[in-house]
Amino acid sequence: EAWARYSFVVEETPYTRLCGTKNILTVNGTFPGPTLYVRRGDTVVVDVYNKGTRNITIHWHGVKQSRNPWSDGPEYITQCPIQPGAKFSQNIIFSTEEGTLWWHAHSEWDRATVHGAIIIYPKNGTDHYPFPKPHAEFPIILGEWWKQDIDKVYNDAIQSGGDPVASDALTINGQPGDFYPCSSKSADTFKLKVDFGKTYLLRLVNNALQISLYFAIANHTLAVVGSDASYLKPFVTDYISISPGQTIDVLFTANQNPNHLYYMAAGVSSDATPLVVENNTTTTAIIHYNNQNHTSRSTTPLIPKLPSYDDTISSVNFTSRFRSLVDKNHPIDVPKHIRKRMFFTVSMNTLPCPNDTSCQGPNGSRLATSVNNISFVTPTPIDLLEAYYYQIKGAFGVKFPSFPPLKFNFTAEDQPSYLETPKRGIELKVLKYNASVQIVFQGTSIVDPSEHPMHLHGFSFYVVGIGSGNFDKHKDRLKFNLVDPPLQNTIAVPLNGWIAIRFKADNPGVWFMHCHFDRHMSWGMDMAFIVKNGKTPNTQMLPPPPDMPPC
Ligand code: C2O
Ligand code: CU
Repeated sequence: EAWARYSFVVEETPYTRLCGTKNILTVNGTFPGPTLYVRRGDTVVVDVYNKGTRNITIHWHGVKQSRNPWSDGPEYITQCPIQPGAKFSQNIIFSTEEGTLWWHAHSEWDRATVHGAIIIYPKNGTDHYPFPKPHAEFPIILGEWWKQDIDKVYNDAIQSGGDPVASDALTINGQPGDFYPCSSKSADTFKLKVDFGKTYLLRLVNNALQISLYFAIANHTLAVVGSDASYLKPFVTDYISISPGQTIDVLFTANQNPNHLYYMAAGVSSDATPLVVENNTTTTAIIHYNNQNHTSRSTTPLIPKLPSYDDTISSVNFTSRFRSLVDKNHPIDVPKHIRKRMFFTVSMNTLPCPNDTSCQGPNGSRLATSVNNISFVTPTPIDLLEAYYYQIKGAFGVKFPSFPPLKFNFTAEDQPSYLETPKRGIELKVLKYNASVQIVFQGTSIVDPSEHPMHLHGFSFYVVGIGSGNFDKHKDRLKFNLVDPPLQNTIAVPLNGWIAIRFKADNPGVWFMHCHFDRHMSWGMDMAFIVKNGKTPNTQMLPPPPDMPPC
């Protein structure tokens, strides 16, 4: 049942940040874009009008879209892009998601400015949170800002074959904050007003393109209550770590000296690539308490302490604390008898530069990435879902391997160079309807160790294990959490570590899976699943809508 219908007009709008004005792609002229408010189980229709000059698609990140991959959004995976002047009506089908998700462009790197929060209330309203009802709630979207146009950043990176240029600022709700040259305290800083003694719900989204982030509020502790639209057993922390794609819901109580101002701040987490080190900066927003006597108020906000950018331990430690809430209103259903066991290496790689030129990757190569040594190639000018549905031959293969082609010491420091070159291809993995699936993602140290926030479309999955070093299938699986593992749609494979996930393939369609660092996604750290139809009509894909965008 449709609870609401939204109009998304994608258009260029001038915005000024860091003393420079440029046209950015926006939805309805706003940056970040509009928040969708829904209730658990709703279906929402969004009419997307492309009034810009570029091809675009919109993805509803974390919405399972039961039986309806047609509205999922990734370009050339489930649809051809919406061309300038065209319109596409997308049906957003919510099922068991509850909490915070978000939507974003899924065409090139347009999500830098085309994104917004999705707030999913309990079916019976906000009195039915599994925690005391907050006084107020706010989406807090973390991101990155480039002075250059984002399509130039994208094109330069793809053409040079090297790392993309680092962003010029991190942002909170689109604003850099007080610590950047030329950011003016009034225009470039997000402000939050609170009442003393009240508790607030912050719905955090990480929309940064290339980096994971730490977040904290000066003098205030945070109670984590949910992530990726699923509730967690609450736990208290001084900082959170959040990967691109992830959402985290936190409560904080305004119980500190009301005459102070407090910064909330975000900075780079757990990576060591040159790109990130260059962007070792901090974005801030200001919290101030209402109705205070202005004469005694301090004007310099207190600054929270964030873990350092190269502190990978604090990041894994934080994520390891996630436990599903599990109560009678929020039961879980972890697959116990696994039918399909897979082991995916996620690696950095290099490929030769096209036409004998020299690229900016190591030794003149161009940077690439892979899953099980296959570097994904975008199947333009056709999309995989329509190729599958209409049985168009030659668009893709179905030979995605369940295990890496080679066994080696994944996390050893000096890897032999023959591991560097992956195979390029478009291989899908076919899953039977309702198969119980387990995937272990193993990070490798080929070329350059990195963490990888892996995101699966069409599903949430239980994260049953997380660890450092090489996954040991005898020892590590004995420690899997099958009691209260968190239910996520995005989870970071730690630098030189592994994660294990489980889900039931109960959603027929074609579903993309990729690293949510956009450079890794564009270099090939992607694959897709075909989940076959079941036998009964309500276990089968819905028919395509009449207005699928043509290629
Ligand atoms: Cu948030 Cu495939 O994306
Ligand atoms: Cu990655």
